[in-house]
Amino acid sequence: MKFFIDTANLEQIKEAQDLGVLDGVTTNPSLMAKEGITGQDNIINHYKTICDLVDGDVSAEVISTDFEGMVREGEALAALNPQIVVKLPMIKDGVKACKYFSSKGIKTNVTLVFSVGQALLAAKAGATYVSPFLGRLDDISTDGLNLISEIRTVYDNFNFETQILAASVRNTMHIVNCAKLGSDVMTGPLSAIEGLLKHPLTDSGLAKFLEDYKKGN
Ligand code: E4P
Repeated sequence: MKFFIDTANLEQIKEAQDLGVLDGVTTNPSLMAKEGITGQDNIINHYKTICDLVDGDVSAEVISTDFEGMVREGEALAALNPQIVVKLPMIKDGVKACKYFSSKGIKTNVTLVFSVGQALLAAKAGATYVSPFLGRLDDISTDGLNLISEIRTVYDNFNFETQILAASVRNTMHIVNCAKLGSDVMTGPLSAIEGLLKHPLTDSGLAKFLEDYKKGN
């Protein structure tokens, strides 16, 4: 299972990279704005910096909503670095653009996916990644994990190569449950990844080992 960090914050990206378990980064216009990164030139430079910090795939989202605009933006983004994955919204022109990029061998991430039907379309269009937003479904009293499970079933039925990228992951148990359900990738905050470290028996066990070591030395 790949771990992506869902942020545009360089310190958090570095910290996750240093942990040695990071496979990539996802961003979106809201995450960029949260870090104060505005204006196309600054956004482009930020993508370049992120690519220099990590080894894996870096999703860069287009803001156009028409096919021509998405192609223009996506081609410029993809030319920045081979690590760039063009992130496209799940709308009609986004599906067309996904097909365009996949036929050119450019990696894509179809985002804002909330149903199995949308995930099916993304796979048919040759998406590298499909991003079901599980946290946002949970937010409206709908079972986000169930969507991951249903997409897994459909993709396995037809051996689709599109990777399920569980997005809008909010906590550590989301990660664990996505792993159980066979999600190929998850993207979430550093806090959710670090939550995987925690167990009180690890802490008390280590404290006891160190205490006993001191007694004998
Ligand atoms: C996915 O790529 C999105 O950037 C992200 O996971 C959305 O998460 P949120 O629902 O916590 O904003």
